[in-house]
Amino acid sequence: MQNDQAGDAKRTSLHGHWSSRMAFILAVTGSAVGLGNIWKFPYIAGQNGGGAFVLVYLICVVAIGMPVMMSEILIGRRGRRNPVATMELLGKEEGSSGHWRWVGGMGVIAGILILSYYSVVAGWTLAYVVKSVSGVFVGANADVVGAQFADFVGNWKAVGLSHTVFMGLTIFVVARGVERGLEQAVKFMVPALLILMLMLLGYSINSGYFGEGVAFLFTPDFEKLTWNSVLVALGQAFFSLSIGMGAIMAYGAYLPEDTSITGATAAVVTADTGIAILAGLAIFPLVFANGLSPDSGPGLVFQTLPLAFGQMAGGVFFATLFFVLLAFAAWTSAIGLMEPAVAWLVEHYNRTRAQASVMIGGLIWALGFGSVLSFNVLAETKFLAGTIFDNIEYLTSNFMLPLGGLLITVFAGWVMCRNSTADELGGSGATYKAWRVLARFVAPIGILIVLINAVT
Ligand code: TRP
Repeated sequence: MQNDQAGDAKRTSLHGHWSSRMAFILAVTGSAVGLGNIWKFPYIAGQNGGGAFVLVYLICVVAIGMPVMMSEILIGRRGRRNPVATMELLGKEEGSSGHWRWVGGMGVIAGILILSYYSVVAGWTLAYVVKSVSGVFVGANADVVGAQFADFVGNWKAVGLSHTVFMGLTIFVVARGVERGLEQAVKFMVPALLILMLMLLGYSINSGYFGEGVAFLFTPDFEKLTWNSVLVALGQAFFSLSIGMGAIMAYGAYLPEDTSITGATAAVVTADTGIAILAGLAIFPLVFANGLSPDSGPGLVFQTLPLAFGQMAGGVFFATLFFVLLAFAAWTSAIGLMEPAVAWLVEHYNRTRAQASVMIGGLIWALGFGSVLSFNVLAETKFLAGTIFDNIEYLTSNFMLPLGGLLITVFAGWVMCRNSTADELGGSGATYKAWRVLARFVAPIGILIVLINAVT
């Protein structure tokens, strides 16, 4: 690896794997690290009572998330096509059936539905860039910051506009094709985000309520744990790691033969989980220091972090930088969410990339208004899991992604023959054996148990 000097064209082309391996890890990290870590993880951990939920989440990440991610990558690399075509091809090749393409099809739909609400929250982030620059958070207390949030989401035109801007940016990048710029963006964004999270953590440690925050996140109180919370933790593991819908499968299609799938998975999972935990550690001390309630829902991050920025030196600058970075993180995830649908439309209907991006992006934009209105005009229109936003979120994270993951591990663990998977995972040593036990038994059975108990 040391020999791969940049700028030495000959050696790079001969041993180009280091940069490809890095490119792959960066692309997957860019899709994994997003609103799921900084916005969603803290608020659902808060709603589900903290400690025990976080523990279940971590177990789900290791025991279910990792084998699913490895399965997705190995399927993608073996098929080398878009997820729908890959599942069809491998289904036939492994002596099962082409109907496995429906796993890819469900992923396409899940991506469209997820992005429809994801873009709305990403739009909030854009609006918060503007608010930060304007200085409204300087010296603000919890009431002011809370009112800022309530006024903003209560205004459907403002929320609709920021959702429109975000979808426009996403369509623009997807239409042009992504690779190069994305890699550079992620290289800068993830470390920068990490540094800012550490700064916020420093602030939280000094808030005087750090102990309360840590206790909330890490002291398991199993009384508070219901089967529904377990399902939400499982769904969050899938959502945060971007697995269960074929997005990682699509990235795996470009992975060089000799790259270790296990190593890449470990790197991505560590980065993703680390950033989520950091976000929790930065936010909960602020919640307790300001007498806020941990279960205040999707607005949690937007009602806490501005308080910290409002009180630190250079707060306007750091708040602006933070929300810009968060918008960037959301943007690199949004591209991944849209990609399977666009790739599929291009291949099946012979559309150009630009046409496909505008069509799929337009559909997602329109669907997004269900979530835009869920915080204002239709805030009281509740059914099943709550508002339209709540329902789309619940359905995708807690059913579609786990179901996709279940089918993916059953496919990799039971349908594909041992030789195929051992070939992709680099032999049949201890790591392979561990993966196989997790993919054949632990992940599918675990997912089934959680799904069955949560719905009955
Ligand atoms: N993981 C992303 C986040 O945490 C969201 C996401 C879910 C995603 N599924 C995806 C991103 C598929 C890209 C592809 O914010």
